[in-house]
Amino acid sequence: MTVHFIGAGPGAPDLLTLRGRDLIAACPVCLYAGSLVPDSILTHCPPGARIVNTAPLDLDAIMAEIAAADAAGHDVARLHSGDLSVWSAMGEQLRRLEAAGIAYTVTPGVPSFAAAAAALGSELTLPGIAQSVVLTRTPGRASSMPAGETLAAFGATGATLALHLSIQNLDRLVAELLPHYGPDCPVAIVWRASWPDQRIVRATLATIREALPEGIERTALILVGRALAAQGFAESRLYAPDYDRRYRPRTADSPWAGWEPGDD
Ligand SMILES: C[S@@+](CC[C@H](N)C(=O)[O-])C[C@H]1O[C@@H](n2cnc3c(N)ncnc32)[C@H](O)[C@@H]1O
Repeated sequence: MTVHFIGAGPGAPDLLTLRGRDLIAACPVCLYAGSLVPDSILTHCPPGARIVNTAPLDLDAIMAEIAAADAAGHDVARLHSGDLSVWSAMGEQLRRLEAAGIAYTVTPGVPSFAAAAAALGSELTLPGIAQSVVLTRTPGRASSMPAGETLAAFGATGATLALHLSIQNLDRLVAELLPHYGPDCPVAIVWRASWPDQRIVRATLATIREALPEGIERTALILVGRALAAQGFAESRLYAPDYDRRYRPRTADSPWAGWEPGDD
């Protein structure tokens, strides 16, 4: 028996990996984090599967479901939204599984920041504008932030910020970022990226609070940074006609002249 942790993606049922879809289809038990994973993802479950929404369960109750599946010899598909490497609560479940000697696998998913960037048609790293993306959040009722992981510290870098779990803290977030990014810095909020009712709000740090319509709460990603609206950025060297590189040697004395794919 194996518990398969699967990144369920941002919401659209076709934004799963093929591996994730096939594992869901092969597991007679599916435990899903129903606060963020929509029912449409469950269409991949096999007929007759035991499907449990874990949103109202505590960790002990989730482990009891897994223990029952283990006793029955049933593999479990364990679904969390987006990718499992950020804010999935997978770590504490893996620790319990290891203590219990239960096998598991981990299959990555499309993270919500990537789905939001896709919805915006934005590259978050543009030459000379931003070359880093910070995936972060602001403190919540259940989660404090480690000292040092402040918006001011991240903002001082000028990197593109992808702020999760933070729409309820928008006023504070704007106040903390204004000194670093300036009032004209572009902000985009993508609500329910990839869901059928996805909504996008574009504004600046100075105007985002007024621009935000009623009803945009919980499942929203806030992106902040100059890369969101930059126009005059340089082209990358990668595709520059004169750029000498392994895959496109420019001169006969290039260190890569004569190199063929598969040579190294
Ligand atoms: C508990 S975290 C889970 C993050 C997830 N593991 C990921 O890879 O994106 C939940 C937060 O992710 C963001 N989020 C998740 N799905 C989203 C979506 N479809 N659209 C916009 N934001 C989303 C929101 O900021 C939400 O508050």
